[in-house]
Amino acid sequence: MFTSIRKAVLPVAGLGTRFLPATKAQPKEMLPIVDKPLVQYAVEEVAASGIPLVIFVTGRGKDAIEDHFDVSFELERQLAGRGKEELRRQIRSISGLLQMTYVRQKHPLGLGHAILTARDLVGEEPFAVLLSDDVIDSRVPCIKQMMDVFEHYGRSVVAIQRVDRSAVSSYGVIKGHPVEDRAWHGRLFRIEDMVEKPEPRKAPSNLAIIGRYILTPAIFDKLAQTRRGAGGEIQLTDGLHRLLENEPIYGLIFEGKRYDAGDKLGFLQATVELALKRPDLGKPFRQYLKSLKL
Ligand code: UTP
Repeated sequence: MFTSIRKAVLPVAGLGTRFLPATKAQPKEMLPIVDKPLVQYAVEEVAASGIPLVIFVTGRGKDAIEDHFDVSFELERQLAGRGKEELRRQIRSISGLLQMTYVRQKHPLGLGHAILTARDLVGEEPFAVLLSDDVIDSRVPCIKQMMDVFEHYGRSVVAIQRVDRSAVSSYGVIKGHPVEDRAWHGRLFRIEDMVEKPEPRKAPSNLAIIGRYILTPAIFDKLAQTRRGAGGEIQLTDGLHRLLENEPIYGLIFEGKRYDAGDKLGFLQATVELALKRPDLGKPFRQYLKSLKL
């Protein structure tokens, strides 16, 4: 039995309709927070967690993501020629972050379907899934925190977060009870049920599932059995629901701050807060914000 996670799946094949027209001719995952594309934050989280391989699930119009993580000889030569050695080094280091492979989702039939597309590349072992829309600022990478739970319990783990009751209808929401384990200080839950996008008054809790998962390979059969649901898509939550019939699933309230960068307001919040934290920009940007006297 596998106790460690060696592969991370990054589904990047969605249409990104909430960011149109910006996403008409470029992938949503390449939109930058300050100067780094969303997808690079996720790849850096994978690398910092010690996972050696990323499997991208790409689709039509997503070539820029492959190019971003490839070596760019022309750009490097030009930067070197202009004496911009530090920038050249940074650009080169992106392509050396880790080993990457790509599989294509021919039609964007939902997150569940995207994960199922990676089945042959993942094989019969547990794996991580990261949605690059969720940018997480934390001391210990969120997916690493979840890997620690997996190493202990050997079961699927989803990242959860407390949200306002009024916001639950944007998420999958869990029903569960806290696990008595001092290591996680009441932040670990054994999931009993989960509901996709419930009305606030019908929600079983305000614990919302966000875009980080550790999944056992049993999820693949469950996704293969799942019919297309809302919007003609195969939903990951439906697959997880089926998995729950056979295996326990845990929910971890991770430590750190998450930004929903797939949403315009969340994207702006991430941009402002992460810019304020930057050593090169924080001070002048703070002064500028103060000068606005809002
Ligand atoms: P979203 O639910 O945010 O959908 O997908 P989306 O298409 O990217 O964006 P909107 O809602 O139209 O604005 C969450 C993640 O799952 C991937 C997306 O690329 C994103 O990283 N995804 C979604 C796929 O890879 N394939 C799909 O069929 C759907």
